[in-house]
Amino acid sequence: MGVGISLSSLASAVANAGGIGVIATPGIGQFEPDWDTDPIKANSRALRKEIRKAKAQTSGPIGVNIMVALSNFDDLVQSAVDEGADVLFLGAGLPLKLPDTLPLQKLEQLATKLVPIVSSGRAAGLIFKSWARRYAYVPDAVVVEGPLAGGHLGFRREHIDDPDYALEKILPEVVSVIEPYREQSDKNIPVIAAGGIYTGADIHKIMQLGAQAVQMGTRFVTTDECDADVELKNAFLNCKKEDIVIIDSPVGLPGRAITDEFLERVSSGVREIFTCPWKCLKSCDFKNVPYCIAKALTNAKKGNLREGFAFAGANAYRADKIVPVKELIETLVAEYAAVARQRPMATETSA
Ligand SMILES: Cc1cc2nc3c(=O)[nH]c(=O)nc-3n(C[C@H](O)[C@H](O)[C@H](O)COP(=O)(O)O)c2cc1C
Repeated sequence: MGVGISLSSLASAVANAGGIGVIATPGIGQFEPDWDTDPIKANSRALRKEIRKAKAQTSGPIGVNIMVALSNFDDLVQSAVDEGADVLFLGAGLPLKLPDTLPLQKLEQLATKLVPIVSSGRAAGLIFKSWARRYAYVPDAVVVEGPLAGGHLGFRREHIDDPDYALEKILPEVVSVIEPYREQSDKNIPVIAAGGIYTGADIHKIMQLGAQAVQMGTRFVTTDECDADVELKNAFLNCKKEDIVIIDSPVGLPGRAITDEFLERVSSGVREIFTCPWKCLKSCDFKNVPYCIAKALTNAKKGNLREGFAFAGANAYRADKIVPVKELIETLVAEYAAVARQRPMATETSA
């Protein structure tokens, strides 16, 4: 979770508790001294440092989330691979092509697993087809992110509340699109479901529809180890259901966030004055957007919600306390086990 919400502290805590801990790359270089003068180098250096820090704190798997829409996508992918990231999650755009610096004709030898994030069976199909043709290789897993997720959403605004685009609907579509690739490649290719999954019972339910794992964001913001300032965590604790809104991000995608003074100011037509040192997002029309989203999210990460806002999933209003990651994961496992005892999955009963 960017900007700066999920760095080495949260990622290593999750990895120590049995999950894959994920470091978010957007704006990761913001605390480097050359952030204003050489942001590409600053980002790459900061990412390398965060991966090393995370790996020093855990022997569990560490992933890195890289938005395809970032101008320095190629550079970040290479830095993460060089530092031995276990998994790369590639979202916010379709990663139809991989950076030329990777060993594209022998991707199976790469220790880092490559996992695109999609919001439809069609997107999954395009990526799998493209990689199979270009690289004779297909993704190692795929994340299917539904419309209840936090942050940028891979849906048109009018589809966000349409039941035809619900996670429960798009997940089986992705499973069936990748089925032939599972057979051809002899790889399991787990499908990882994301967006609105909040309890162990939710995990059980979505796994019955074909998911083999889940990716959770919102629930992990209100943890001790989350890398954001406590004021951002408090925004989650204090928000109500009606405070969670869909915004039109300057990136050109809808996004889900907790409304606040800053967002109200922007929606009333006020334009922030800012300079853009490097156009961090390929699609950002920085001369015409009302504010810099990287700056707004950085301010929120630092706890300054008067000058920024927090991205959040549709369930963020349900948070009522800040807990250690270990306790959260134990709760999820216990909730999952309780449902599984009552309603074993088809595979569990037949085993
Ligand atoms: C605060 C926040 C920041 C996020 N930042 C990113 C990001 O930088 N890149 C990305 O691919 N997804 C991002 N997401 C989406 C999450 O990775 C995750 O897939 C999604 O929120 C899952 O839904 P949930 O929050 O209901 O668990 C973000 C989500 C939140 C809540």
